[in-house]
Amino acid sequence: MEKDTSTNDEIDKLPGIGPATAEKLRDAGYIDPMDLAVESPHELVNVADLGLATASKIIQEARKAVKKDNFKTGKELLEKRSEVGRLTTGSKILDELLGGGFETQAIIELFGEFGSAKTQIAHQLCVTVQLPKDQGGLKGHAFFIDTENTFRPERIVQMAEALELKPDKVLEKIHVARAYNSSHQMLLVDKVKELSRENAARLLVVDSLTAHFRAEYVGRGALADRQQKLNRHMHDLLKWGDLNNGVVCVTNQVSAKPDAFFGDPTRPIGGHIVGHTATFRIYLRKSKGPKRIARLIDSPHLPEGEAVFSVNEEGIRD
Ligand SMILES: Nc1ncnc2c1ncn2[C@@H]1O[C@H](COP(=O)(O)OP(=O)(O)OP(=O)(O)O)[C@@H](O)[C@H]1O
Ligand SMILES: [Mg+2]
Repeated sequence: MEKDTSTNDEIDKLPGIGPATAEKLRDAGYIDPMDLAVESPHELVNVADLGLATASKIIQEARKAVKKDNFKTGKELLEKRSEVGRLTTGSKILDELLGGGFETQAIIELFGEFGSAKTQIAHQLCVTVQLPKDQGGLKGHAFFIDTENTFRPERIVQMAEALELKPDKVLEKIHVARAYNSSHQMLLVDKVKELSRENAARLLVVDSLTAHFRAEYVGRGALADRQQKLNRHMHDLLKWGDLNNGVVCVTNQVSAKPDAFFGDPTRPIGGHIVGHTATFRIYLRKSKGPKRIARLIDSPHLPEGEAVFSVNEEGIRD
């Protein structure tokens, strides 16, 4: 796929928005003109510390900017859909739940309690992404943003050997960075964008998407801030997926017990922001021994359903 490095959907390009205002808006969670076009001037005054006149002008400009590409024909949309690739998880049953594998140009959120196989699936994708298309891969490199220090090269070696791939070669195509806090985590996405130009990157993992955010933004007062930052982060990730025709896989831990803290276990951390920006959401549960149950939630075009798969020494399997 041809790389598009233009940034014409960014708010910097709007007439009348200087770099300082653009930064303020981005910090408040407004990433592209569409976010601004649907906003009310008063809300913008509140959250971005702007004058009312400036806020109104910005919204007007944003509306003009999004107007011209508000509508696409069904044919155009179908063409874009036809570029979408699919990445195998190693388990046929799990792939089928997702209509044939993890889609490119999409964010797949894996959420579930500890040990539910989020990190295992993330490792597996780093290996399968390197396979040729006829074997369910995308023949590309993988980037792994590791926030909890859970990336294990030894595990990759096991999974590579199981697929009769040379472990050294596979490891060379996985680029891992440790993220030390949420700001660093967001910064690393920019770095990934840069490096993706050199390597044919087709997978970006963020494991865990929410852990730093949860630890740093504590209490009710910090909630709005956290959601804004997460919103920006998710937009950045989705944009990477679009530009590189790649798969974005993020993980999110939730408690298995529906208690007062977490409420409904199928409503993970990050609430509606993560939920609405993620294209596919998979809820993972532990079952007997190596068995895990995956449930697809809120998919735009696939029926909800469940798949049982297992985590073995070879990796993710039926
Ligand atoms: N080499 C292996 N062979 C077989 N099973 C393994 C192997 N490595 C890990 N597992 C299985 O994977 C489980 C851990 O899953 P994983 O680390 O993906 O959980 P997680 O959902 O990421 O949890 P957390 O929320 O704590 O990050 C282990 O409990 C084990 O059952
Ligand atoms: Mg994990």
